Amino acid sequence: MMQKPRLLVTRKLPDTVEKRLVDTFETILNPDDVPLDSEKLIQQSKNVDGILCTPNDQIDTDLIARLPDRIRIISTFSVGYEHIDITACQRRGIVVTNTPGVLTDATADIALLLLLGAARRAYEGERLIREDKWTGWNPTQLIGIGLQGKRLGILGMGRIGQAVAQRAQAFGMEIHYHNRTRLDHGATYHDSAESLLKVSDFLSLHFPLTPQTRGFLNAERLALMPKGAVVVNTARGGVVEDEALLAALKSGQVAAAGLDVFDGEPNLHPGYREMPNTLLLPHLGSATLETRNAMGFCAIDNLEAFFKGQTPPHPVTV
Ligand code: DGY
Repeated sequence: MMQKPRLLVTRKLPDTVEKRLVDTFETILNPDDVPLDSEKLIQQSKNVDGILCTPNDQIDTDLIARLPDRIRIISTFSVGYEHIDITACQRRGIVVTNTPGVLTDATADIALLLLLGAARRAYEGERLIREDKWTGWNPTQLIGIGLQGKRLGILGMGRIGQAVAQRAQAFGMEIHYHNRTRLDHGATYHDSAESLLKVSDFLSLHFPLTPQTRGFLNAERLALMPKGAVVVNTARGGVVEDEALLAALKSGQVAAAGLDVFDGEPNLHPGYREMPNTLLLPHLGSATLETRNAMGFCAIDNLEAFFKGQTPPHPVTV
């Protein structure tokens, strides 16, 4: 009988995903879900053929240089891959794969939740009730911003951006977008991010974190937006300059922000917790059982194809 490939799985995954993993590979699981630092990751990588990692694992240049030669594939349980140095992997002949497509709807749902929740002051309302400070309905209490007829700027019109547009249209929003390429989409195209920002009563970010996009939403760009705009980020925290967004939230330039991702998460900028006009979620974009299972199966499909000598369905290249 052919020996099963040996696989290191860095975090605990949903049960059905782990079941398929142990049926398919000789698998080292992480049942206690303790994050592996680089030393532990290197240690556990001995005698394995591949790694199934998550966005929390920093697979950087140094770590890649220290990986045993036997490792030939890194399959990330995520669509984002900024945590992996792809060039360094390519140099060492390590294939990298990701899980695009399967988390589109779940992430778009969370973007809408944040958009609505931030605009309608859901956090402040929740707190009023939980802290037992609600004295009853009143005509001027926690007045928010309506979505109907407002312009939603979508920066990055990939799968998730388009799914957000579809949902927001159902709320009567006017969709504007900027993307590297113009799409055959009913929405209004802007050929620069700056042009889009100028009309964005609401802004939703949907582009990857790269050295070029780090800190993209800075003070200068926030100042271009209409006063009292709402900002939503379900992409990566690093695309926003935290100090600039916090200043805009304090001045009222940005009325509210709904954030699911943070630079340096889980150690987010403490200023966000202090603001009443932020709605904060702990990176829940893909957190439905259906989606996490689908992400796991997609990661396994990549591994299976690779170990059969085929091209994996979702290779990542630079
Ligand atoms: C991803 O897949 O990159 C997401 O951020 C995980 O929710």
